[in-house]
Amino acid sequence: QTGPTGCPISHGAAGFDPFADGYQQDPPEYVRWAREQEPVFYSPQLGYWVVTRFDDIKAIFRDNLTFSPSIALEKITPTSDEANAVLAGYGFALNRTLVNEDEPAHMPRRRALMEPFTPEALKHHEPMVRQLAREYVDRFINDGRADLVDQMLWEVPLTVAMHFLGVPADDMDTLREYSIAHTVNTWGRPKAEEQVAVAHAVGNFWQHAGRILDKMRAAPDTEGWMQYGIRKQKELPEVVTDSYLHSMMMAGLVAAHETTANATANAVKLLLQHPKVWQEICTDPSLIPNAVEECLRHNGSVAAWRRLATQDVVIGGQAIPAGSKLLIVTSSANHDEQHFVDADLFDIHRDNASDHLTFGYGSHQCMGKNLARMEMQIFLEEFTRRLPHMQLAEQNFSYVPNTSFRGPEHLWVQWDASRNPECSNP
Ligand code: HEM
Repeated sequence: QTGPTGCPISHGAAGFDPFADGYQQDPPEYVRWAREQEPVFYSPQLGYWVVTRFDDIKAIFRDNLTFSPSIALEKITPTSDEANAVLAGYGFALNRTLVNEDEPAHMPRRRALMEPFTPEALKHHEPMVRQLAREYVDRFINDGRADLVDQMLWEVPLTVAMHFLGVPADDMDTLREYSIAHTVNTWGRPKAEEQVAVAHAVGNFWQHAGRILDKMRAAPDTEGWMQYGIRKQKELPEVVTDSYLHSMMMAGLVAAHETTANATANAVKLLLQHPKVWQEICTDPSLIPNAVEECLRHNGSVAAWRRLATQDVVIGGQAIPAGSKLLIVTSSANHDEQHFVDADLFDIHRDNASDHLTFGYGSHQCMGKNLARMEMQIFLEEFTRRLPHMQLAEQNFSYVPNTSFRGPEHLWVQWDASRNPECSNP
C-alpha cells in the first residue's frame, strides 16, 4: 500500500486508528512508535497526515497561513446523505468562529473580542466559580463516595461557561446532550445508525443557539461575552458578523465547557493515581498552579488538533502536498523527550510544564486558557482542602470515542466521611 505521495505505508501507519481504545486510553503512548520512528505519517484510515513531535507541531501552529485552521471544526468522519439531510432540515449552518477562521478575517475579530478574557475581567468571575465549587462539594461531602464527573465536573464548568457567555442557566441537561452530540459529530466516528440521532441533536442545538442569541439581542446590555460581541457588531459589522455570532453561540459552549470539565477530570485522576503528589499539594496548595500546568501537559483534555496545508511543504523531513489535512497530536508533543526531560514522568515541579501545547500556540492560542486555569485551580484548592483523604475507586475508564476531546466519562472517588476535616474543624 502506498500513500498520496507514492511512499509505502508502514505497518504502524496502516494500523493507526484514533477511534480505537488504545488511542482513547492514552494517545501519547499509542503514538510513541511514531514519535520515535516515523514522526510524520499518512493514515490511510483517516485520510490525514499525522504529526507527533513537539518542534514540528509548534512550527505548524506558528504559521497559520501555510497551515490553515479552516478544518478545525469540520466533521472528521463524512456522514451519510440521510444524516446530512436531517442537519440541512434544521437550517444547520455552523461556519467560521475564531478557531477555524483564516486571516485576514481572524485577527481583527480576535482583537475586537479579547477584552472579556483579560486577567482583570476574569477576576470578576472568581467568586462565582468558588461558590459553585463549594456548593457542589457540600452536596456529596458526607457520602464518602462520588462520581466527580456526574456530580460536579460536568455541571460546574457548564454553569461557568454559560455565565461567561451570558446564557441564562436553564435546561442544562439538554445542553449537555447537545454538546456531546456536537463532539461526536465533529471529532468522532458515529456508526451509520447513530448518525441520524446525532444529526437531530446537533440540529436542535443549532436552533437552540439561535433562540438564545435572539434573546440576547433583545437585551444587549446584559453581561456576557456574547452580548459583548453583539455590542461590538454595531461598531464593526464586517468583523463581528451574524454568521460568527450564531456559530460561536454553539461552538463557544463546547469550547468553554467540555474542554475544562474533561481537563479537571483528567487532572484529578492523574493526581490521585500519584498519591504522594496528591499529598504534596494538600500540604502545600501553593504548588497547585504548576500542578495544573503539569496535568495539562501530561494528560490534557485536547489530544489533537487539525490544520490544512495550503501549499506544498516539508514537515519533519516528510514532503506533504498542498491540500493535505493534518492531525497534529498535541498530546504526543507534550510527551516528546526532545522538549521535556523524562517526558512520561508526572512532575509537578517541572519548570517548563507550561510549554505544553494543550491550548495550541500562536495566533489562535486558546483565548479562554486563563479562565480554564482559574477554574482548575479553584477546584483543586477546594478538593485538597476539604477532601485530602480522597482516593480513586476501583473502576475502568471510558471515553467518548473521538480524536480530540478527551476525559473520562465517569470518575469514581471515595473517602472516609467520618475523617472529613470539617468534622473535627467545622
Ligand atoms: C482555542 C483548548 C478552554 C475559548 C483553543 C484551541 C485549543 C483550545 C487547542 C485551538 C488553539 C490553536 O489553534 O492554536 C482548550 C483547552 C481548554 C480550553 C484544553 C481547557 C482546559 C477554553 C475556555 C474558553 C475557550 C474556558 C472560553 C471561555 C477558546 C477560543 C478559542 C480557543 C475562543 C479560539 C481562539 C482563536 O482561534 O483565536 N482552545 N480550551 N477555551 N479556545 Fe480554548
